[in-house]
Amino acid sequence: DIKGFTFDLDGVITDTAKFHEQAWHDLAMQIGVNWSDELGNQLKGISRMDSLNMILSAAGQQDKYSDEEKQAFTIQKNTHYVELIQEITPKDILPGMTAFLSEIKSGGYIASIASASKNAPKILEKLGIIDDFVGIVDPATLSHGKPDPEIFTKAGDILKLSPSQIIGLEDASAGVEAIKAAGQTALGIGLAAKSASPNLWVASTTEISLANIAAGMQNSN
Ligand code: G6P
Ligand code: MG
Repeated sequence: DIKGFTFDLDGVITDTAKFHEQAWHDLAMQIGVNWSDELGNQLKGISRMDSLNMILSAAGQQDKYSDEEKQAFTIQKNTHYVELIQEITPKDILPGMTAFLSEIKSGGYIASIASASKNAPKILEKLGIIDDFVGIVDPATLSHGKPDPEIFTKAGDILKLSPSQIIGLEDASAGVEAIKAAGQTALGIGLAAKSASPNLWVASTTEISLANIAAGMQNSN
């Protein structure tokens, strides 16, 4: 039986994915790297330095910059990103997710956060929902990013549940792969997540509820 949920943050609870994309897009333009929506989608769920490396590789520039220069690029991107998220309020919680978080609480389920973002605690504070989660995986403690299962395994450990008792929520294909590799049930949200064949899938957060999940799990049996 399902007893808990592991949540990605960006693109699942709030639409910060668009701010990450904008900040990377602007940096790519500045250093003369072509941008595509496909590249933007591939970056979802990917850590800060891995994202920069993917952007440079896509342009054949993986060896162009020193580690110090790359460090400076990631700091610049994050400074821009932090500016973009300053104005976030509880109104920026994605449609349906406030209701789903109350369903989780009143139904006696528990939840934790599996986000690669070092900005996650700050964002959850601004959204006013940090207390809805038993804990947040600290991405600084990870040896491998998504699609490696490590972050979802740690988020499951925080819940003290076994993988079969957990549903993980993700908007990124790398994230769906990570949830499945951790042995949890993957609920994919949106088109980018669909390509990784999640166990359950919804087009948008408006469709997420305990009833829809129960119905979907019956269909997938
Ligand atoms: C999430 C986002 C990625 C972002 C990563 C690191 O996984 O989906 O787009 O690159 O977190 O975020 P940070 O805020 O630490 O740069
Ligand atoms: Mg995401």
